[in-house]
Amino acid sequence: AGDGSLSPKSPGRRACLNRVQPFVIGIAGGTASGKTTVCTQLMQALGGQRVALISLDEFYRDLTEEECSSITDVNFDEPEAFDVKCLANCLDTLSKGELAQVPVYDFVTSRRSTTSVRNVAPADVVILEGILVLHLPETLRRCHMKIFVDTDDDVRLARRIRRDTVERGRDVEAVIQQYTRFVKPSFEKYILPSRNNADVVVPWRESNTVAVDLITQHIRTKLGMHELLRIFTNLYVMPSTMQT
Ligand code: ADP
Ligand code: C5P
Repeated sequence: AGDGSLSPKSPGRRACLNRVQPFVIGIAGGTASGKTTVCTQLMQALGGQRVALISLDEFYRDLTEEECSSITDVNFDEPEAFDVKCLANCLDTLSKGELAQVPVYDFVTSRRSTTSVRNVAPADVVILEGILVLHLPETLRRCHMKIFVDTDDDVRLARRIRRDTVERGRDVEAVIQQYTRFVKPSFEKYILPSRNNADVVVPWRESNTVAVDLITQHIRTKLGMHELLRIFTNLYVMPSTMQT
């Protein structure tokens, strides 16, 4: 069509018709519960599928001048700590089949990079992990499958101390103080209640291969249905184009 609109046979129109929204999986759980580990295992098990991984951690908002001057008083475990609007936009961009730009966050400085972003390509499966993914309405309503990783509190605290001292440049005293003042109260206020929003609660210590297998199976079934939908969509709109 000369008017710039898409003709039934044009590649743009085809791409539109072929596109089915990605299957979005939300994975929540307390700090150091093993969310990232579950994601890694799911991605390995889903080998061959196009999977995009997004972490709520990437969407920590920038701190104000005042917060910067007293960083130990900042609560990083409440909804207000995150740029939820930006996250929702990224998820919607991926759902439209477009490339999303995700902020880069540095846990050592507690700052968002001003120079770089991470490009996330559109995918068939989007995995979104983070402490408040099943609490925030903006993420909850965008997830097609909701998983809660359930790990003993003592195990989580021990892992958190090890991780934050080794990887995030903190000292043990500061980690314990932050945990007592902010992390544990927020876990009880927001994260633990959000377990009720989960479709699947995965008991997690070292691993849980049965749970990972079952979840993978479910995703593959859903992807198969998406594929059928794609075929039916094409059959429904293509008869006139197929004759030419
Ligand atoms: P989350 O994403 O929920 O914060 P991670 O999967 O990143 O949790 O795990 C938190 C920390 O615990 C990481 O430092 C990780 O290396 C460590 N960890 C995870 N699983 C195990 C395990 N089975 N044994 C020992 N340490 C573990
Ligand atoms: O990976 P995990 O789910 O543990 O990440 C969330 C945790 O990161 C929160 O419990 C929060 O206290 C911590 N955090 C931090 N410093 C920041 C940002 C987040 O300790 N600058």
